[in-house]
Amino acid sequence: MQALAHYPDGHADGVDLSPYALERAAEAATERGLADRLTLHERDARSYVPDGDYDLVLCVGSTHAFGGFGGTLDLAGRHVNPDGVLMVGEGFWQVPPTPEALAALGAKPDDHTDLAGLVAAAERAGWTPVYAHVSDSAEWDDYEWSWVGSLTEWALDNPGHPDSAGTLTAAREHRDQWLRGYRNTLGFVTFVLRRI
Ligand SMILES: C[S@@+](CC[C@H](N)C(=O)[O-])C[C@H]1O[C@@H](n2cnc3c(N)ncnc32)[C@H](O)[C@@H]1O
Repeated sequence: MQALAHYPDGHADGVDLSPYALERAAEAATERGLADRLTLHERDARSYVPDGDYDLVLCVGSTHAFGGFGGTLDLAGRHVNPDGVLMVGEGFWQVPPTPEALAALGAKPDDHTDLAGLVAAAERAGWTPVYAHVSDSAEWDDYEWSWVGSLTEWALDNPGHPDSAGTLTAAREHRDQWLRGYRNTLGFVTFVLRRI
């Protein structure tokens, strides 16, 4: 949406498996007056075949859809014009992971690399960062409190709902995994990549 707002002649396609995520995206596009320039597709990003190539492809916090960082560079990267930009947001180990962090994430140490390792992987795949934003601690906290807080609020506002207790438990479990596990261990970077 930011990209569309910056480029008044631009059009965008958004792809997600979740009808709820797409519904929210459609609402946000309407609120921002961008709906006529955004087409939403409810489908697997791996099998999404666009009509043409794109000046910009974004995959932020969703590399699992393409089987990881390398798969995203390859599969999402295929949709990018020769001079276009690929923007990928991915996790990395800020510090070597503790056993608590690994248990919280259900991860193995080599499921992520460090930041330099991600850059090296991008370059091996033919992409190089022309910029990157590393999310700071306040941004991570905001993301996690929003994640946990929205579920908690919903559960508290809907005490009679059959999913209420389970939702509260899910929020608590996630909060514990974050606070006792991976907080300040798992980092997040958003790369702006161009082809080498
Ligand atoms: C953590 S969210 C990130 C959403 C968004 N990129 C953002 O930054 O707010 C991950 C999203 O990926 C979607 N997703 C997961 N697997 C997918 C797939 N194979 N194809 C398309 N979307 C997928 C989920 O439905 C979810 O909306």
